[in-house]
Amino acid sequence: MPATHDEGMNETMTALVTGANKGIGKEIARQLGQLGHTVLLGARDVERGRSAAAELVVEGLDVRFVQLDVTDQASVAAAAKTIDDEHGVLDSLVNNAGLTHGMSLPSEASVEDVAATYATNVFGVIAVTNAVLPLLRRSTAGRIVNVSSDLGSLTRQQDPATPYYGQPPLLAYSSSKTALNGVTVAYAQELETTGVKVNAVNPGYCATDLNDHAGHLPAAEGAKVIVQAAVVPDDGPHGAFFTDGGTLPW
Ligand SMILES: NC(=O)c1ccc[n+]([C@@H]2O[C@H](COP(=O)([O-])OP(=O)(O)OC[C@H]3O[C@@H](n4cnc5c(N)ncnc54)[C@H](OP(=O)(O)O)[C@@H]3O)[C@@H](O)[C@H]2O)c1
Repeated sequence: MPATHDEGMNETMTALVTGANKGIGKEIARQLGQLGHTVLLGARDVERGRSAAAELVVEGLDVRFVQLDVTDQASVAAAAKTIDDEHGVLDSLVNNAGLTHGMSLPSEASVEDVAATYATNVFGVIAVTNAVLPLLRRSTAGRIVNVSSDLGSLTRQQDPATPYYGQPPLLAYSSSKTALNGVTVAYAQELETTGVKVNAVNPGYCATDLNDHAGHLPAAEGAKVIVQAAVVPDDGPHGAFFTDGGTLPW
């Protein structure tokens, strides 16, 4: 049985970020590296992952590429085994990998597109979380951050005061983030009495490939609140949904 931090095997905090080869994920990896963490930069594509990790290593950060396609159980299991073999413990898991297949109205959506979106945004989160949960339990401060969206908030979607109220509903993406919020609450309930904290975080509307760089925030800005959640103190939130500036309704 690998040692925990208490037993002195690994004094440096270790974090896994999924989908970290670009966008908000790469900025999360950079900022956790700047905090002194050993960052395992997960990416499904070997070239893109190695290239992003190399960029951050040049900046003096301890960032290591881990091949991780969250929809591929063999890849997920191999990544978890590598982390166990090399570190024996994981302090933070940031479930950042996300996408949308199709931007269709509900009446025009294909089930295939919705299923493919859920495969990454929902089922991938469950697969990765369960694979590394034994490692998070060994940490003295295990943290799980699910990168959600305020588009996943049922309350916000129906609030005329939200900026996107009245815009065409994006069935696959928005409902996948609503499901992710439900997944977050379920894990938070199961892990309530452990030291592992679980939260969902909305980074805000960031300019990334996901939205053809239409977002008004730089990805590095959106990453900040996610990094805060990844290192939240023991008396910090658990089972919450928040963004920069406060709590969001489910
Ligand atoms: N941008 C925003 O305004 C915004 C707002 C709210 C929430 N979010 C959320 O923030 C997260 C990051 O999005 P982003 O804006 O940074 O988008 P992005 O630039 O498109 O990055 C998405 C990342 O997810 C990866 N990914 C997709 N499917 C994957 C899979 N099966 N396995 C592993 N990695 C996979 C992508 O890898 P490839 O390069 O290989 O495709 C990429 O690294 C997502 O969960 C998104 O829903 C974004």
